[in-house]
Amino acid sequence: MGTLRWLSIAATASTALGLTPDGLISAPRRSEAVPNPSGDVAVFSSSQYSFKTHKSSSSWNLLDIKTGGIKLLTNDSNVSEIIWLGSDNSTVLYINGTNSEIPGGVELWVSDISDFANGYKAASLPASFSGLKAVTTENGEVRYLAYAESYANGTAYNEKLAATPLSTARIYDSIYVRHWDYWLTTRFNAVFSGTLKKAKGNGKATYKADGGLKNLVSPVKNAESPYPPFGGSSDYDLSPDGQWVAFKSKAHDLPRSNYTTAYVFVVPHDGSKTAVPINGPDSPGTPAGIKGDVGNPVFSPDSKKIAYWQMEDETYEADRRTVYVYTLGSNETIPSLAKDWDRSPDVLKWADQKNLVIGVEDAGRSRLFTLPADAGDDYKPKNFTDGGVVSAYYFLPDSTLLATRTAIWTSWNVFTASPDKGEIKTLATANEIDPELKGLGPEDVSEFFYEGNWTQIQAFVTYPEGFDKSKTYPLLYYIHGGPQSSWLDSWSSRWNPKVFADQGYVVVAPNPTGSSGFGDELQDAIQNNWGGSPYEDLVKGWEYINENIDYIDTDHGVAAGASYGGFMINWIQGSDLGRKFKALVTHDGTFVADAKISTEELWFMQHDFNGTFWNNRENYRRWDPSAPERILKFSTPHLIIHNDKDYRLPVSEGLSLFNVLQERGVPSRFLNFPDENHWVIHQENSLVWHQQVLGWLNRYSGVEKSNKGAVSLDDTVIPVVNYDP
Ligand SMILES: *[C@@H]1O[C@H](CO)[C@@H](O)[C@H](O)[C@H]1NC(C)=O
Ligand SMILES: *[C@@H]1O[C@H](CO)[C@@H](O)[C@H](O)[C@H]1NC(C)=O
Ligand SMILES: *[C@@H]1O[C@H](CO)[C@@H](O)[C@H](O)[C@H]1NC(C)=O
Ligand SMILES: *[C@@H]1O[C@H](CO)[C@@H](O)[C@H](O)[C@H]1NC(C)=O
Ligand SMILES: *[C@@H]1O[C@H](CO)[C@@H](O)[C@H](O)[C@H]1NC(C)=O
Ligand SMILES: *[C@@H]1O[C@H](CO)[C@@H](O)[C@H](O)[C@H]1NC(C)=O
Ligand SMILES: *[C@@H]1O[C@H](CO)[C@@H](O)[C@H](O)[C@H]1NC(C)=O
Ligand SMILES: *[C@@H]1O[C@H](CO)[C@@H](O)[C@H](O)[C@H]1NC(C)=O
Ligand SMILES: *[C@@H]1O[C@H](CO)[C@@H](O)[C@H](O)[C@H]1NC(C)=O
Ligand SMILES: *[C@@H]1O[C@H](CO)[C@@H](O)[C@H](O)[C@H]1NC(C)=O
Repeated sequence: MGTLRWLSIAATASTALGLTPDGLISAPRRSEAVPNPSGDVAVFSSSQYSFKTHKSSSSWNLLDIKTGGIKLLTNDSNVSEIIWLGSDNSTVLYINGTNSEIPGGVELWVSDISDFANGYKAASLPASFSGLKAVTTENGEVRYLAYAESYANGTAYNEKLAATPLSTARIYDSIYVRHWDYWLTTRFNAVFSGTLKKAKGNGKATYKADGGLKNLVSPVKNAESPYPPFGGSSDYDLSPDGQWVAFKSKAHDLPRSNYTTAYVFVVPHDGSKTAVPINGPDSPGTPAGIKGDVGNPVFSPDSKKIAYWQMEDETYEADRRTVYVYTLGSNETIPSLAKDWDRSPDVLKWADQKNLVIGVEDAGRSRLFTLPADAGDDYKPKNFTDGGVVSAYYFLPDSTLLATRTAIWTSWNVFTASPDKGEIKTLATANEIDPELKGLGPEDVSEFFYEGNWTQIQAFVTYPEGFDKSKTYPLLYYIHGGPQSSWLDSWSSRWNPKVFADQGYVVVAPNPTGSSGFGDELQDAIQNNWGGSPYEDLVKGWEYINENIDYIDTDHGVAAGASYGGFMINWIQGSDLGRKFKALVTHDGTFVADAKISTEELWFMQHDFNGTFWNNRENYRRWDPSAPERILKFSTPHLIIHNDKDYRLPVSEGLSLFNVLQERGVPSRFLNFPDENHWVIHQENSLVWHQQVLGWLNRYSGVEKSNKGAVSLDDTVIPVVNYDP
């Protein structure tokens, strides 16, 4: 890019702001659409934050699967989860978030989907249960599962009724004292089972609780399910006949912080026997050498088989997932399906007794594939959906599926598809419903491939509102975290590329060495190589853009990244590439190589740096952004964000970097949220985050001046602390 570029940018790159930070944050957020048994309608929830009232509201809605029409059912916030009951088309079981007798408890209610005012209470649950799953058995009773925190003795923990200790001290005799954003306690998540019986009153049959709840997890010492913070109801399943429950727990017999190992346990729904692992070290069917994490256990339609995925390696959290099928009561080796396929299945569902439909990350999308339950090693699954990231899918009676996905250009897109016909019809899409998303569409996004350090690298491109390829827009270089993860064609309320682009940038989001979804070789090559190939891939990507894409102005380019992406920004600050950018942003990144031992998940560091902190310290120090010779090069204006509840990478990392930048006289600012973790979630905090991050980039790229209406640092009303003389 020539130096004359600056002249054209001020004159041309003004965009009408499309998706704004407050539009992103206050647009409706919708759940997956769950069809009723006859496949006529699907239910989904929607919640929305208002910057006028500073409150959230929520509602439940019905989508007509033929017409795509949407109808509001209720906005009673006490209706917190809804599931369809039995084969009836309109009866639902739902969690009512209050309890008339037990403070801090909830209730199960039954009603017609269109008439919540005339429902009735079927059960009282003594704590804040969630994750409801239920089946109706042949004799007409309802067997259900839900989870809550549990004491070691199996009693559900009720925060409202628990006594507050006089001291706030915490005492530990084992490592893993905290995780993500919480400190470990003697309590843990547990799946509980319960039954509702049909009772005939005067005329109408009603369901009533039959006995209390059974804790299915606590009898196994050190087991926990779902696994926090991201585990949920996909960590367990109930067999269609109501007899059996399968749940995932991290290995109860291994130290938690240095292994990823987990098992699938099976237990009778009535809790009459203690849960046993089907793939533990002593389980008769356990395949040799398979010791990693497991997930998504699901029963087959005949209740006789369980499919689940498992990784091989016991310390690598991003190892390839392979699908296994276990037959209940058998002692035979569990076969792995399509073992040679270089992809990592994530979501599993049985289509029928013989076939699965799986959701799999594939080259920046998450597509649906079919997989026979007896597929051989060399079987190549075929995808039948294409764009976006499918987050949920359900089978309809006519053998099509109802699926919910997101994409960079839509926060919610419900469509039908089938393995034979591919994608059939879009029923509803948020960019056509929500005023905040007006004008967004697939044309806002493209991708390119380039020759990186040692292989081809893919990059997503997101264009600003009113994009005109004869004009130029500053580059916003987007660096993802993980590092074993990737930029996807998906919607997010954090790091949404369209919000950044609509300030007046072209956002380029590369998937360099370490990225997932492109096969094991690309992903695994980052081990012991954090600042090596990935950095070179980013340099090559910048050069490619500079030489080949005329509408991108690299002279006024900026770069931003979080977590590993923050590490990479810190690495870039001390490298030649750092001099190509007008400003940098690090969100919750690592800085001091020797500080990595302060993290919680030790398996992660011990895998990525290939050894322990004491035996292999040179691996930890090889790519140290805080090395003296690198600090001496620091000179690009740099915004640092680091939050107090980030236990993955403690706040001292951001403070260390800020101290160095300030002492070296590099323009820099420190932004901290005391109540946020590795992510900034709360809507008011998210607004300030966007104002500061976009404001910082806009000031140094020149966009603040060239683009009227662009976000400015001065938009934030919080006073800036500055004691400089
Ligand atoms: C939703 O809430 C509004 C007031 O907040 C009320 O007027 C309306 O009737 C409610 N609708 C339903 C279907 O509950
Ligand atoms: C939820 O239930 C509680 C307790 O019955 C009640 O006080 C509250 O008004 C209910 N909320 C709504 C939105 O109906
Ligand atoms: C559910 O709906 C389908 C089709 O609309 C209908 O054939 C079936 O009889 C309904 N079942 C019940 C229990 O209402
Ligand atoms: C929720 O439960 C409370 C307490 O039993 C009850 O007053 C309220 O009507 C219920 N609301 C719904 C929507 O079920
Ligand atoms: C289980 O332990 C908790 C915490 O110590 C206690 O409050 C509760 O009463 C116990 N439950 C039973 C049934 O002993
Ligand atoms: C894993 O943890 C155990 C116990 O905490 C310890 O003995 C072992 O050395 C650890 N292994 C590694 C590789 O750190
Ligand atoms: C499986 O092995 C157990 C002993 O580990 C034995 O008791 C049981 O009969 C075996 N089941 C079958 C179906 O072989
Ligand atoms: C399957 O994925 C490919 C990209 O690998 C895509 O081009 C194709 O359209 C997808 N197939 C269907 C039926 O969506
Ligand atoms: C690839 O990156 C390494 C650093 O990890 C560097 O030594 C090597 O020269 C690069 N190769 C190419 C072809 O860019
Ligand atoms: C990790 O360490 C093992 C054993 O020391 C070695 O064989 C392997 O090559 C190392 N891997 C990397 C990526 O450095």
